[in-house]
Amino acid sequence: MHNFSIDQSKSEDIFYQELLSAASALVTDEPDSIANMANISALIWQYVPDLNWAGFYRVIDGELVLGPFQGKTACIRIAMGKGVCGTAAQSGEVQRVADVHDFPGHIACDADSRSELVVPVIRNEKVVAVLDLDSPMPDRFTAQDQAGLTKLIATIANELG
Ligand code: SME
Repeated sequence: MHNFSIDQSKSEDIFYQELLSAASALVTDEPDSIANMANISALIWQYVPDLNWAGFYRVIDGELVLGPFQGKTACIRIAMGKGVCGTAAQSGEVQRVADVHDFPGHIACDADSRSELVVPVIRNEKVVAVLDLDSPMPDRFTAQDQAGLTKLIATIANELG
């Protein structure tokens, strides 16, 4: 349906610039946030290497509810403040966890997950959702991954919530 030229062999800076352009193109002129979350999780799943889960949880009535994702079936509801996702949603701060076994209260939806990156989606100063990425590799997510995905989510936040 969409053809993007995203080169995974380029530097992380260039890779994330290209991923951001593709993400912006996908959500432009589409007001349905669920459709946009579906395409953004598919885009990330296709191009960001070494993931075993990529998707969104939405904040609904004060808890996180599973949204569009790629990967194995997952926990449906997560309380605010619980696990890596609930911590990101409550604090509004990115959580980059090198080893999920060391994160108190980590929720193991997929036993293969070893590291995790959770980026809050903030709209009108409120957390409306989180992007959750899991990897089977310990310490998979770099500071550049965090910066690239934080910028991507901030740029399209109005189309995600
Ligand atoms: N590990 C997450 C739960 C969601 S799954 O990884 C898809 C957490 O601790 O919040």
